[in-house]
Amino acid sequence: MKTVTMRVNGKLVSAPTEGRTLLVEYLREGLRLTGTHVGCDTSQCGACVVHVNGLAVKSCTIFAQELEGAEVLTIEGMANSDGSLGVIQQAFQDYHGLQCGFCTPGMVMSAAALLAENPTPSEAEVRQYLEGNLCRCTGYHNIVKAILAASGQAVAAE
Ligand code: FES
Ligand code: FES
Repeated sequence: MKTVTMRVNGKLVSAPTEGRTLLVEYLREGLRLTGTHVGCDTSQCGACVVHVNGLAVKSCTIFAQELEGAEVLTIEGMANSDGSLGVIQQAFQDYHGLQCGFCTPGMVMSAAALLAENPTPSEAEVRQYLEGNLCRCTGYHNIVKAILAASGQAVAAE
């Protein structure tokens, strides 16, 4: 076992790891940050997306021991400092961008990464960026609307 220390949602944290411990296990089991979900065993669903050093990554695809000293942002870090929903989270609520909610943490984290690199994406660009995030409930339409609304672009109301 090796203790790995990283900064998660702005806080310095440490947890014991084995060589095979994935980042998603480190977050969920080591730190009890269970907002990051595991939806597959095949690196396909995107429910586990977090940011590592500013980039969106599937946290089921990277070992925790590779991330000593990394900056990690999870869905728990997306709320405003007063605990209210962040802009993207609020847009998902306002535009009905979720049903069961299982995919939502990964969707929000991917959306945040997209808007950081492309603040006013087109609908096509949003859809293309979300190719690595699967949703079995919504048909994606309202997720795309929510992300466009979060970017400040006019979106037709439901
Ligand atoms: S749990 Fe990581 S891609 Fe599905
Ligand atoms: S809201 Fe259920 S999987 Fe997306």
